[in-house]
Amino acid sequence: MPAIVLGIETSCDETAVALYHEQYGLLAHRLHSQAALHENYGGVVPELAARDHVNRILPLVRSALDDAQLTTGDITAVAHTAGPGLIGALLVGAAFATGFAFSRSLPLVPVHHLEGHLLAPMLEDDPPRFPFVALLASGGHTLLAEVKGIGCYRILGETLDDAAGEAFDKTAKLLGLPYPGGPHLAKLAEQGRTGRFHFRRPMTDRAGLDFSFSGLKTAVATALAAAGDAASKADLARAFEECIVDTLVIKCCRALEQTAYTRLVVAGGVSANHRLREQLIDKVTSRGGRAYFPRPDFCTDNAAMIAYAGWTRLAEARRSGPIIARSRWPLSELSAPTGNQSG
Ligand code: KG4
Ligand code: ZN
Repeated sequence: MPAIVLGIETSCDETAVALYHEQYGLLAHRLHSQAALHENYGGVVPELAARDHVNRILPLVRSALDDAQLTTGDITAVAHTAGPGLIGALLVGAAFATGFAFSRSLPLVPVHHLEGHLLAPMLEDDPPRFPFVALLASGGHTLLAEVKGIGCYRILGETLDDAAGEAFDKTAKLLGLPYPGGPHLAKLAEQGRTGRFHFRRPMTDRAGLDFSFSGLKTAVATALAAAGDAASKADLARAFEECIVDTLVIKCCRALEQTAYTRLVVAGGVSANHRLREQLIDKVTSRGGRAYFPRPDFCTDNAAMIAYAGWTRLAEARRSGPIIARSRWPLSELSAPTGNQSG
């Protein structure tokens, strides 16, 4: 019987569910964004996030099953994001998935959220082959990894302070834009003029693949205070976006050079950014390589990537046991899936 995996994602402020069929691929995916719930607070309120997941999860599962014209009896395994993320939010998905799997004696697969992001491009028509360099740029993490296969991740560099998405969000706040800031800042940057402001590309003047983005928002704040007019905001957004994009592009090219790989996979919320996508495609193609991205909906948090990542680790799934949720969980702790299942 072919596997049909129910994927559950509740690590932050999106409740998402998906159904992945091992032969036919993705059957359905549903998502509820809590952006409106947290907007008044200017960021995610963990307790509100967890409570809202409780309300949303079951209707979303029902609606995904309806979309796929399936019933609960058709599901053969359950995968859920086990970490990293907000512990209260994670526990809602983990408890739901564990209870669901236990009640139907189904295998349960705890999935690493970043492995989910990293494998999201595998859901596209022309997926990347291993090995590749991966840039993961989200709200909580920014790292470059050498990926030899599923679970074979060597971290080449990571942020020493703010993640790229976090820098977008904090700078957006400073510019008076609503939460979540990344997409709003990118929109404002489209109206900005290039060249009016320029920010130093952090940590590109020295060897290595680490990032540091926390100084950038201070530089934007200082420039905003000096300019003193609202009209400068679009120009500042433009210069900020160009700075982040340039920095990420420089480090990606360096990582490709260092590994002698030709394929680059870019995932996580920031990979939805148009300028980043354009620039990376341009630079990587001109080096004779190829850049792969998830479709925009699957750059940000979603359950399709969790259902897929869960499927790749089905052979090592457990039948029952304690609820697994970890707020911190280094990607480098993962190893290749055991058993004969593989992507
Ligand atoms: O992967 P994700 O949905 O959640 C985490 O795992 O953190 O990433 C969310 C991050 C947020 O910081 C958001 O502002 C950023 O991705 N983001 C963007 C864009 N869309 C989302 N940043 C820049 N440009 C975008 N278009
Ligand atoms: Zn994420």
